[in-house]
Amino acid sequence: MEKSKIIELLNLDLQDEHGAIIQYLSHAYAIGEGEMACEIEAVARDEMRHLDWLAETIAALGGQPSLKRGTMNMAGKAVPEWMGNNVGLEEGAIDSYKKHIKMIDDPKVKRLLQRILADEQAHRGKFEHFVEKAKKEGMKDIRGERKDDVAKTLNWGIEHEYTVVLQYLFHSYMTGNEEARKQLEDQAINEMQHLGWLAEELAGSGGSPRVEHTRPDQSTRTADMLKADLKIEKEVAEAYDKASKEVDDAGLRELLIRIRDNERYHIDVFNDLLEDEEGGAKQGGGVNIMDSGE
Ligand SMILES: [Fe+2]
Ligand SMILES: [Fe+2]
Ligand SMILES: [Fe+2]
Repeated sequence: MEKSKIIELLNLDLQDEHGAIIQYLSHAYAIGEGEMACEIEAVARDEMRHLDWLAETIAALGGQPSLKRGTMNMAGKAVPEWMGNNVGLEEGAIDSYKKHIKMIDDPKVKRLLQRILADEQAHRGKFEHFVEKAKKEGMKDIRGERKDDVAKTLNWGIEHEYTVVLQYLFHSYMTGNEEARKQLEDQAINEMQHLGWLAEELAGSGGSPRVEHTRPDQSTRTADMLKADLKIEKEVAEAYDKASKEVDDAGLRELLIRIRDNERYHIDVFNDLLEDEEGGAKQGGGVNIMDSGE
């Protein structure tokens, strides 16, 4: 099978993992604190690992990881219904991994998909169990209709954090700079934490998290990536600072300040990386015709 065809199939799998992550996280936020939300989040973390493996494989094959989100099923009003939808999502994933394992002849890629498939089979069993557990424990949707300025701020933050998670991951897969790759991945994980904190805060205070994103930067040249990342960090550090001064609730203020300080740290990290990248490029000497004409 041609490389481009393998990349195409892996990108379909990647999109489905992306959809599963958001579907499961949204359920966990909606259920709120407790054992079951934690277990659902653990499944979402498995899917994040799958996404990471697939994206790295796609990049190693010379492709670009897709940022599209696959099908989600957010239907249903009651928690047992949601868990049933998750069983269905896992069944869909199992079918397509089996199909792709048959189609792809590259042994390394096949092995990776086998490993993911085993996880999906375990997840299906887990969600089947969660259907019963949710019924037995009378699990409820804790979200409310809160739509004031606080809810707006939190949903703004969620949208931002989701966008930069995608952006930094994409940059980490595409950069050839090893230090930048490591830092971008680390900061993406940190933004993922921010997303969780904000969504839990909103759901826990009568709001409804909207887990949507805007367009992530998709530069493929490291200096361009870092410039885009710095720009967005500077904007949001300021926005979090402003928001922290406007909220009355002390706990929420503390949360926004904590996130703001993380963003300020990201600014420093990206600044250092950009300096090294640009310094390194100059030191490289000679004229790089690929970079001229900027
Ligand atoms: Fe998965
Ligand atoms: Fe953040
Ligand atoms: Fe940040």
